[in-house]
Amino acid sequence: MRKIRAGVIGTGFVGPAHIEAVRRSGIGEVIAIAGSSEKVAKAKASELGIDRAYGNYMDLIKDSDVQVVHNCTPNNLHLPINRAAMAAGKHIVSEKPLALDSREARLLLNAAQRSGVVHAVMFNYRHYPLVAHLRAVVQAGELGKIFAIHGSYLQDWLLYESDYNWRVDPALGGPTRAVADIGSHWCDLVQFITGLKITEVTADLQTVLPTRQKSVTTVGSFGRLTTPRQVEVRVTTEDYASMLFRFQHDARGALTISQVSAGRKNRLFFQIDGSAKSAAWDQEQPETLWFGFRDRPNETMVKEPAILKREARQYAHYPGGHGEAWADGVKNFMCDVYRYISQGKKPGRDPAPFATFEDGYRSSVLLDKILTSSRQRRWVKVNVK
Ligand SMILES: NC(=O)c1ccc[n+]([C@@H]2O[C@H](COP(=O)([O-])OP(=O)(O)OC[C@H]3O[C@@H](n4cnc5c(N)ncnc54)[C@H](O)[C@@H]3O)[C@@H](O)[C@H]2O)c1
Repeated sequence: MRKIRAGVIGTGFVGPAHIEAVRRSGIGEVIAIAGSSEKVAKAKASELGIDRAYGNYMDLIKDSDVQVVHNCTPNNLHLPINRAAMAAGKHIVSEKPLALDSREARLLLNAAQRSGVVHAVMFNYRHYPLVAHLRAVVQAGELGKIFAIHGSYLQDWLLYESDYNWRVDPALGGPTRAVADIGSHWCDLVQFITGLKITEVTADLQTVLPTRQKSVTTVGSFGRLTTPRQVEVRVTTEDYASMLFRFQHDARGALTISQVSAGRKNRLFFQIDGSAKSAAWDQEQPETLWFGFRDRPNETMVKEPAILKREARQYAHYPGGHGEAWADGVKNFMCDVYRYISQGKKPGRDPAPFATFEDGYRSSVLLDKILTSSRQRRWVKVNVK
């Protein structure tokens, strides 16, 4: 069977992760990349063993051999690139957040629904074995009635004033930063696992560092400033956020988001409290899932294919004790997307085992409401129309 041919736009941090995952899926191959210049694209293509390198993303989109476009660029380029790819009839795998705000995200969802192409948003945390296992546990009613969902997503790579990245600039990253960048993952994940949608929010966003030193040369994501040539810029996007949620069926939630919590690298953590038991999971310890009990000893389950729920087994490729983590979740996401494409399925007609632009739009509406709540210091309803 001929592999599905992909082109990847943006080759910074996450672009190469897409490339590796498409290759590991066994169903796709990456035939082209596009970077911010031809020089950058050519250097990356040679490093990663890819034949075609474009300095202009429209040339990749117009390449008639490319069937799937991966958009791994900064958030301000999600609208134009996703739109152009769909207009050219290409399937699209977009990075999150889907767009800078819900107005842009709505335009993309409308275009996706008209286009007939497969559209996916990389909410990759859905695709871990123990996450899928927990979702099946919840669906089987084993937690009982869920009344609380709480946790945090903490990083430290923007702790110092000398830390700068395009995400800090609202023109490139959007009006919320930490919440859109990592809070979007947490909110998508807990709603996916529990099936409970967030219906109302109150949020308090805080810019801990009101100024930062911006390098005059580009510093990639998770990069450190090495050049002494820098300018001071004023920061308006948040480093830290606290939120309270109301979910469907009267469940309540609380979330802390931070990109300035020293020592925490990529700690997405949640706990779900039910009337029968609680469950907790930490992305930095992805091979264990904790269950808490009132009347008997708590349990820590270790990933082991044979004891996973049926729905989760496809995501565990190795026996227990053989670590599978972030890059494997991305691979599982790509397998789901590429299998769906290869089977000729279509969003809207066939249930998608991955987040689509509809989920991306929902996420953008929630981000807008979080921002409104923080600015107006009040509870805001989340109505997704
Ligand atoms: N799903 C996840 O877990 C995850 C993880 C990291 C990043 N992301 C998302 O991926 C996107 C990219 O983030 P990143 O961390 O890789 O950023 P990055 O800065 O490391 O990489 C972005 C790349 O896009 C390139 N680029 C900029 N303008 C371009 C243009 N006009 N044409 C082609 N390439 C261009 C830059 O040169 C850079 O190489 C963001 O939307 C981010 O939110 C998602």
